[in-house]
Amino acid sequence: MPRVSARPARRGRWSAFVALVLVAVMADDLGAEYADVVLNKRAEREGMRPVVFPHWFHRIRFRCKVCHSELGFEMRAGANDVTMDEITQGKFCGMCHNDEIAWGVDNCDLCHSGRPGLRSGIYGGHQTLGPGRW
Ligand code: HEC
Ligand code: HEC
Ligand code: HEC
Repeated sequence: MPRVSARPARRGRWSAFVALVLVAVMADDLGAEYADVVLNKRAEREGMRPVVFPHWFHRIRFRCKVCHSELGFEMRAGANDVTMDEITQGKFCGMCHNDEIAWGVDNCDLCHSGRPGLRSGIYGGHQTLGPGRW
Protein backbone atom coordinates (compact mmCIF):
# COMPACT_ATOMS: atom_id res chain seq x y z
CA MET A 1 0.00 0.00 0.00
CA PRO A 2 2.46 2.65 -1.13
CA ARG A 3 -0.14 5.45 -1.19
CA VAL A 4 -0.94 5.22 2.49
CA SER A 5 2.66 5.42 3.53
CA ALA A 6 3.46 8.21 1.09
CA ARG A 7 0.87 10.56 2.53
CA PRO A 8 2.31 11.27 5.95
CA ALA A 9 5.70 11.83 4.38
CA ARG A 10 4.31 14.49 2.08
CA ARG A 11 2.44 16.16 4.89
CA GLY A 12 5.66 16.14 6.88
CA ARG A 13 7.51 17.93 4.12
CA TRP A 14 4.71 20.49 3.82
CA SER A 15 4.74 21.34 7.50
CA ALA A 16 8.51 21.56 7.41
CA PHE A 17 8.10 24.09 4.63
CA VAL A 18 5.51 26.06 6.60
CA ALA A 19 7.81 26.03 9.62
CA LEU A 20 10.69 27.33 7.50
CA VAL A 21 8.61 30.20 6.16
CA LEU A 22 7.49 31.06 9.69
CA VAL A 23 11.06 31.06 10.94
CA ALA A 24 12.10 33.29 8.02
CA VAL A 25 9.29 35.76 8.74
CA MET A 26 10.08 35.83 12.45
CA ALA A 27 13.80 36.22 11.85
CA ASP A 28 13.06 39.15 9.59
CA ASP A 29 10.94 40.71 12.33
CA LEU A 30 13.79 40.43 14.77
CA GLY A 31 16.34 41.61 12.22
CA ALA A 32 17.30 44.42 14.56
CA GLU A 33 18.80 42.00 17.01
CA TYR A 34 21.86 41.99 14.77
CA ALA A 35 22.18 45.72 14.34
CA ASP A 36 23.48 48.51 16.50
CA VAL A 37 21.08 50.62 18.52
CA VAL A 38 21.76 54.28 19.13
CA LEU A 39 20.50 55.75 22.41
CA ASN A 40 20.38 59.51 22.34
CA LYS A 41 17.42 60.73 24.35
CA ARG A 42 19.52 63.04 26.45
CA ALA A 43 23.22 62.23 25.97
CA GLU A 44 23.89 64.89 23.36
CA ARG A 45 21.62 67.42 25.00
CA GLU A 46 23.82 66.97 28.08
CA GLY A 47 27.05 67.44 26.16
CA MET A 48 28.00 63.80 25.46
CA ARG A 49 28.11 61.94 22.16
CA PRO A 50 25.21 59.57 21.41
CA VAL A 51 25.53 56.06 22.84
CA VAL A 52 26.08 53.17 20.41
CA PHE A 53 24.89 49.82 21.77
CA PRO A 54 26.22 46.93 19.63
CA HIS A 55 23.32 44.51 19.97
CA TRP A 56 24.85 41.53 18.17
CA PHE A 57 28.06 41.74 20.19
CA HIS A 58 26.00 41.39 23.40
CA ARG A 59 23.39 39.04 22.04
CA ILE A 60 25.95 36.32 21.27
CA ARG A 61 27.27 36.54 24.82
CA PHE A 62 24.04 36.68 26.82
CA ARG A 63 20.53 35.31 26.62
CA CYS A 64 17.82 37.72 25.55
CA LYS A 65 16.08 37.46 28.89
CA VAL A 66 19.09 38.67 30.85
CA CYS A 67 18.49 42.14 29.43
CA HIS A 68 14.91 42.06 28.22
CA SER A 69 13.35 40.59 31.32
CA GLU A 70 15.82 40.60 34.20
CA LEU A 71 17.36 44.02 33.50
CA GLY A 72 14.11 45.46 32.22
CA PHE A 73 15.18 46.71 28.77
CA GLU A 74 12.12 47.05 26.52
CA MET A 75 12.52 45.30 23.16
CA ARG A 76 11.85 48.44 21.19
CA ALA A 77 14.47 50.90 20.03
CA GLY A 78 14.04 54.19 21.84
CA ALA A 79 11.54 52.72 24.32
CA ASN A 80 13.93 52.84 27.23
CA ASP A 81 14.57 55.81 29.42
CA VAL A 82 18.02 55.17 30.78
CA THR A 83 19.91 57.77 32.78
CA MET A 84 23.60 57.91 33.56
CA ASP A 85 22.81 57.99 37.29
CA GLU A 86 20.98 54.69 37.04
CA ILE A 87 23.89 53.16 35.13
CA THR A 88 26.39 54.37 37.70
CA GLN A 89 24.17 52.86 40.40
CA GLY A 90 24.43 49.49 38.66
CA LYS A 91 21.21 49.40 36.66
CA PHE A 92 20.80 48.72 32.91
CA CYS A 93 24.23 48.86 31.21
CA GLY A 94 25.74 49.35 34.68
CA MET A 95 24.63 45.88 35.72
CA CYS A 96 27.58 44.53 33.72
CA HIS A 97 29.77 47.55 32.98
CA ASN A 98 31.07 47.67 36.53
CA ASP A 99 34.72 46.56 36.17
CA GLU A 100 33.70 43.01 37.01
CA ILE A 101 31.63 41.47 34.22
CA ALA A 102 32.86 44.11 31.75
CA TRP A 103 34.88 47.31 31.79
CA GLY A 104 33.41 50.01 33.99
CA VAL A 105 31.49 53.25 33.54
CA ASP A 106 34.60 55.42 33.64
CA ASN A 107 35.26 54.44 29.99
CA CYS A 108 32.88 57.13 28.76
CA ASP A 109 34.04 57.08 25.15
CA LEU A 110 33.46 53.36 24.61
CA CYS A 111 29.72 53.88 25.01
CA HIS A 112 29.41 57.54 24.01
CA SER A 113 30.96 56.79 20.64
CA GLY A 114 28.29 57.83 18.12
CA ARG A 115 28.74 60.63 15.61
CA PRO A 116 27.22 63.87 16.85
CA GLY A 117 23.69 64.34 15.54
CA LEU A 118 22.70 60.65 15.39
CA ARG A 119 19.10 60.09 16.42
CA SER A 120 17.95 57.22 18.63
CA GLY A 121 17.16 54.18 16.52
CA ILE A 122 18.49 51.11 14.75
CA TYR A 123 21.50 51.36 12.48
CA GLY A 124 22.73 48.72 10.08
CA GLY A 125 21.12 45.48 9.04
CA HIS A 126 22.67 42.12 9.59
CA GLN A 127 25.89 43.55 10.84
CA THR A 128 27.35 45.43 13.73
CA LEU A 129 29.99 48.05 13.30
CA GLY A 130 30.85 48.44 16.96
CA PRO A 131 31.92 51.53 18.85
CA GLY A 132 32.40 54.74 16.96
CA ARG A 133 31.55 53.44 13.51
CA TRP A 134 28.18 55.15 13.14
C1 HEC B 1 23.12 43.00 26.85
C2 HEC B 1 21.71 43.28 26.79
C3 HEC B 1 20.86 42.73 25.67
C4 HEC B 1 20.76 41.43 25.23
C5 HEC B 1 21.50 40.19 25.72
C6 HEC B 1 19.75 41.43 24.18
N1 HEC B 1 19.27 42.71 23.99
FE1 HEC B 1 17.83 43.29 22.67
N2 HEC B 1 18.13 45.26 23.20
C7 HEC B 1 18.96 45.69 24.21
C8 HEC B 1 18.95 47.15 24.25
C9 HEC B 1 19.74 48.03 25.22
C10 HEC B 1 18.07 47.58 23.21
C11 HEC B 1 17.76 49.02 22.80
C12 HEC B 1 16.61 49.57 23.56
C13 HEC B 1 16.37 51.03 23.30
O1 HEC B 1 16.78 51.56 22.26
O2 HEC B 1 15.73 51.69 24.15
C14 HEC B 1 17.55 46.36 22.60
C15 HEC B 1 16.63 46.34 21.55
C16 HEC B 1 16.05 45.20 21.06
C17 HEC B 1 15.01 45.18 20.08
C18 HEC B 1 14.40 46.41 19.48
C19 HEC B 1 14.96 46.79 18.19
C20 HEC B 1 13.80 47.03 17.30
O3 HEC B 1 13.67 46.31 16.31
O4 HEC B 1 13.00 47.94 17.61
C21 HEC B 1 14.69 43.86 19.81
C22 HEC B 1 13.65 43.32 18.86
C23 HEC B 1 15.57 43.05 20.65
N3 HEC B 1 16.38 43.89 21.39
C24 HEC B 1 15.58 41.67 20.66
C25 HEC B 1 16.53 40.88 21.32
C26 HEC B 1 16.63 39.44 21.20
C27 HEC B 1 15.70 38.58 20.37
C28 HEC B 1 17.70 39.05 21.99
C29 HEC B 1 18.29 37.66 22.19
C30 HEC B 1 18.53 36.92 20.99
C31 HEC B 1 18.25 40.26 22.60
N4 HEC B 1 17.51 41.34 22.16
C32 HEC B 1 19.32 40.29 23.47
C33 HEC B 1 19.71 44.90 25.04
C34 HEC B 1 19.92 43.53 24.90
C1 HEC C 1 24.46 41.50 30.53
C2 HEC C 1 25.70 42.26 30.62
C3 HEC C 1 25.85 43.53 29.80
C4 HEC C 1 24.95 44.57 29.68
C5 HEC C 1 23.60 44.73 30.34
C6 HEC C 1 25.57 45.55 28.81
N1 HEC C 1 26.81 45.11 28.41
FE1 HEC C 1 28.05 46.05 27.09
N2 HEC C 1 29.37 44.50 27.22
C7 HEC C 1 29.25 43.41 28.07
C8 HEC C 1 30.44 42.58 27.94
C9 HEC C 1 30.73 41.29 28.72
C10 HEC C 1 31.28 43.21 27.01
C11 HEC C 1 32.67 42.76 26.55
C12 HEC C 1 33.66 43.39 27.46
C13 HEC C 1 35.08 43.10 27.08
O1 HEC C 1 35.36 42.82 25.90
O2 HEC C 1 35.93 43.19 27.98
C14 HEC C 1 30.57 44.41 26.55
C15 HEC C 1 31.06 45.29 25.60
C16 HEC C 1 30.44 46.47 25.21
C17 HEC C 1 30.93 47.37 24.19
C18 HEC C 1 32.18 47.17 23.34
C19 HEC C 1 31.85 46.31 22.15
C20 HEC C 1 33.06 45.96 21.31
O3 HEC C 1 32.89 45.83 20.07
O4 HEC C 1 34.15 45.81 21.87
C21 HEC C 1 30.07 48.45 24.15
C22 HEC C 1 30.17 49.66 23.25
C23 HEC C 1 29.04 48.20 25.14
N3 HEC C 1 29.29 47.00 25.76
C24 HEC C 1 28.00 49.07 25.42
C25 HEC C 1 26.92 48.78 26.26
C26 HEC C 1 25.79 49.66 26.49
C27 HEC C 1 25.63 51.05 25.89
C28 HEC C 1 24.94 49.00 27.32
C29 HEC C 1 23.57 49.45 27.82
C30 HEC C 1 22.63 49.95 26.83
C31 HEC C 1 25.54 47.71 27.62
N4 HEC C 1 26.74 47.62 26.97
C32 HEC C 1 24.97 46.75 28.44
C33 HEC C 1 28.18 43.13 28.88
C34 HEC C 1 27.02 43.88 29.01
C1 HEC D 1 28.24 51.30 29.60
C2 HEC D 1 27.89 52.41 28.73
C3 HEC D 1 28.12 53.82 29.22
C4 HEC D 1 29.27 54.37 29.76
C5 HEC D 1 30.60 53.68 29.99
C6 HEC D 1 28.98 55.76 30.03
N1 HEC D 1 27.70 56.04 29.65
FE1 HEC D 1 26.79 57.86 29.86
N2 HEC D 1 25.04 57.06 29.13
C7 HEC D 1 24.88 55.76 28.69
C8 HEC D 1 23.51 55.58 28.23
C9 HEC D 1 22.92 54.30 27.68
C10 HEC D 1 22.87 56.83 28.40
C11 HEC D 1 21.43 57.21 28.00
C12 HEC D 1 21.52 57.69 26.57
C13 HEC D 1 20.34 58.49 26.08
O1 HEC D 1 19.24 57.94 25.97
O2 HEC D 1 20.53 59.68 25.78
C14 HEC D 1 23.87 57.73 28.96
C15 HEC D 1 23.62 59.07 29.26
C16 HEC D 1 24.57 59.99 29.70
C17 HEC D 1 24.34 61.41 29.91
C18 HEC D 1 23.02 62.11 29.68
C19 HEC D 1 22.42 62.67 30.94
C20 HEC D 1 22.03 61.64 31.94
O3 HEC D 1 22.30 61.85 33.13
O4 HEC D 1 21.48 60.57 31.58
C21 HEC D 1 25.54 61.97 30.31
C22 HEC D 1 25.81 63.44 30.65
C23 HEC D 1 26.50 60.87 30.36
N3 HEC D 1 25.89 59.69 30.00
C24 HEC D 1 27.83 61.05 30.74
C25 HEC D 1 28.75 60.01 30.85
C26 HEC D 1 30.10 60.18 31.32
C27 HEC D 1 30.73 61.52 31.75
C28 HEC D 1 30.67 58.94 31.31
C29 HEC D 1 32.07 58.54 31.78
C30 HEC D 1 32.43 58.96 33.13
C31 HEC D 1 29.68 57.99 30.79
N4 HEC D 1 28.54 58.68 30.53
C32 HEC D 1 29.91 56.64 30.60
C33 HEC D 1 25.85 54.77 28.68
C34 HEC D 1 27.14 54.90 29.17
